[in-house]
Amino acid sequence: MDISIVGTGYVGLPAGAGLASKGNHNVTCVDIDEEKVEKINNGECPIYEEDLPELLEKMVEDGKLSATTNTSDAVHNSEITFLAVGTPMQEDGSINLDYIKQAAEDIGEGLRDKEEYHVVVVKSTVVPGTTENEVIPRIEEKSGKKAGEDFGVCMNPEFLREGTALNDFLNPDRIVIGELDEKSGSKIEEMYSAFDVPKIRTSLQAAELIKYASNSLLATKISFINEIGNLCKELNIDVYEVADGVGLDHRINRDFLDSGAGFGGSCFPKDVRALASFMEEKNLDPKILNDTIQVNEEQKTKLVEQLQDHYPDLSGKTIAVLGLAFKPGTDDIRQSPAIDIISELKYLGAEVKAYDPKAIENMKQKHPEIQYTSNYEEALKDADAALIVTDWKEFNQISREDLQEMNKALILEGRRMEYKIDKENRKGVTWP
Ligand code: UDX
Repeated sequence: MDISIVGTGYVGLPAGAGLASKGNHNVTCVDIDEEKVEKINNGECPIYEEDLPELLEKMVEDGKLSATTNTSDAVHNSEITFLAVGTPMQEDGSINLDYIKQAAEDIGEGLRDKEEYHVVVVKSTVVPGTTENEVIPRIEEKSGKKAGEDFGVCMNPEFLREGTALNDFLNPDRIVIGELDEKSGSKIEEMYSAFDVPKIRTSLQAAELIKYASNSLLATKISFINEIGNLCKELNIDVYEVADGVGLDHRINRDFLDSGAGFGGSCFPKDVRALASFMEEKNLDPKILNDTIQVNEEQKTKLVEQLQDHYPDLSGKTIAVLGLAFKPGTDDIRQSPAIDIISELKYLGAEVKAYDPKAIENMKQKHPEIQYTSNYEEALKDADAALIVTDWKEFNQISREDLQEMNKALILEGRRMEYKIDKENRKGVTWP
């Protein structure tokens, strides 16, 4: 099939390369950024994602994937168009639909003179009702056509983790196809025929909500285990033993029960807030969602509180912060616990030396005032304590010799590490 995808970010590109390779489809990616489009057409990947650069290059070489800035052309020359633009969070926690609205209008323009049947698929994360109330009317107005008659509409949420987005796209647990009508849904199910996984067909609104409910439940699992972890800390119990015991119950399962310094990233904080704010608009009280956010906010700076048990006065102390990205394998620092931790340390008068294998340049934008080092050894040298905020594998190499270089051999872990240093030198945020 010929497919176009509007938006070449962390969702659009893995989906594009994935559909071109596994689905054997011809894909045109659309972006307003000319530089990005040129890069893609040269076989270069504009974002960092595991295995994506190689696959993208191959698909471009094979003539299965190309990019353009012209939405109309892309729509004209395809039978399915995905909408995969960003839906950032606004100040009040609600969702910003500006990009979606613009893209819907552009797609509508493209459909105006098109005779053949076309299906528009919303892949961006949008609150329930958005496809029906914001996307469809704009396409109808610009195209002069009627949804469900002249063109089809689906909502197909993504469940891609940053860093492993391509693999997640190629090997999903399920494919959710929200459909305006049966014909639209069948077309998209056919497009995914190479994907041998459960496919669930729902209404448009149910598909939109499935995305938010999934991310919110995963975030809630993390806040839940962090709350239990805070009790474990008090009782001198290892929360990982508790998580293992709880997680063996197949009704619960062990995934997303890793306790630590709290969740960050571009999705969980944004999606839980957006769903809470959407419920409030409906005059419903999102009690669990609000608590999930609240527990997470408090969790982020627990490490600093624990550091104060060792240094009631942090002024003039040098603290190494290891790991700045919101999780390993990415340079993304959006909502990373490290941001709040550094702010708190600075507020309390500490000197901060920070290191991350990939995210230093991004953190410099947020915290230009601190010192950055080019490896973890340098950060540890002469530090009065170190906080591990992101579990990059390389931190497992930290050795007794590295600790000897510190002013005080003390590591507080915000993530569970597997290194071999003595127990008395290391403490966990929610484990002994
Ligand atoms: C998430 C969802 O997993 C994905 O399905 C969605 O579509 C986008 O949002 P992502 O934000 O890339 O993906 O990362 P993820 O691996 O889910 O981790 C999110 C945050 O939760 C990270 O800060 C991570 O450190 C934290 N986390 C995760 C925990 O604290 N404990 C866990 O057990 C798992």
